[in-house]
Amino acid sequence: MTRTVYVNGDYLPEDEAKVSVFDRGFLFADAVYEVTSVLGGKLIDFDGHATRLARSLSELDMPNPIAKEDLLEVHRELVRANGIEDGLIYLQITRGAADRDFAFPEDPKPTIVLFTQSKPGLADNPMASTGMKVISIEDQRWGRRDIKTVQLLYPSMGKMMAKAAGAHDAWMVEDGEVTEGTSNNAYIVKNGRIITRHLGHEILHGITRKAVLRFAREAQMEVEERPFTIEEAQEADEAFITSASSFVMPVVEIDGKAIGTGKPGRTVARLREIYLDESRKTAV
Ligand code: PDD
Repeated sequence: MTRTVYVNGDYLPEDEAKVSVFDRGFLFADAVYEVTSVLGGKLIDFDGHATRLARSLSELDMPNPIAKEDLLEVHRELVRANGIEDGLIYLQITRGAADRDFAFPEDPKPTIVLFTQSKPGLADNPMASTGMKVISIEDQRWGRRDIKTVQLLYPSMGKMMAKAAGAHDAWMVEDGEVTEGTSNNAYIVKNGRIITRHLGHEILHGITRKAVLRFAREAQMEVEERPFTIEEAQEADEAFITSASSFVMPVVEIDGKAIGTGKPGRTVARLREIYLDESRKTAV
């Protein structure tokens, strides 16, 4: 089946969809994005993603070409048209096409693109019971990681470094402290306390992070928002990541050292279960 994608107001077969070669997203990575998961044909935390999108756009002084209600409608129509049961919806907004110039165009006409990725059984990833291995790498990204831009070359390189080392992902380290994973937020658990870096310009303010920390606090778990080092993580009882595509995923090895028992721990399993249950209940 040919996928239906959305480009600037039109629903089109994927091979008929076009974006200009002069698009600033292509030429300057002058673009922001969101990835929203779909479970059982419904959107997980659409509101959170739409709110972060509006913030990313405003931080870059980029006009928002679509109202929240209309954006929800586009997401729903793509889920329907592509028969998505479980999967992801990718959304990108760029500053649009303009003659190549570093300065922003005075009258930008943003480009908006959305497409779906079908991932049957997205919430049943076997990695949740085996856990993932991560390596640490230096964080070489720009300083405004709280803005969800499409500048993903270094995170892509990080995934390749992990792959080359026989691991699944990389945790990035700046000034001796872990910032986040290449496409996820990073956590450790020690003596029942969940520890994750505080919000700031250094990390993406994960939508899954926000929900997971709220559910953890509601379940009377202790949460500490502060930086941690790789050494501290290696001595932790458990470790995990969160993102819209992996939800809550255990980490069982960091730089070759087993975490805790070397198997996914109880806190992570419980958080994953609560997160999936609660987000399914409020999915739209
Ligand atoms: N990545 N940190 C980074 C650097 C990310 O790229 C992501 C998401 C997260 C987690 O954010 P959220 O919980 O809102 O998904 C943290 C998406 C999934 C991606 O690029 O595919």
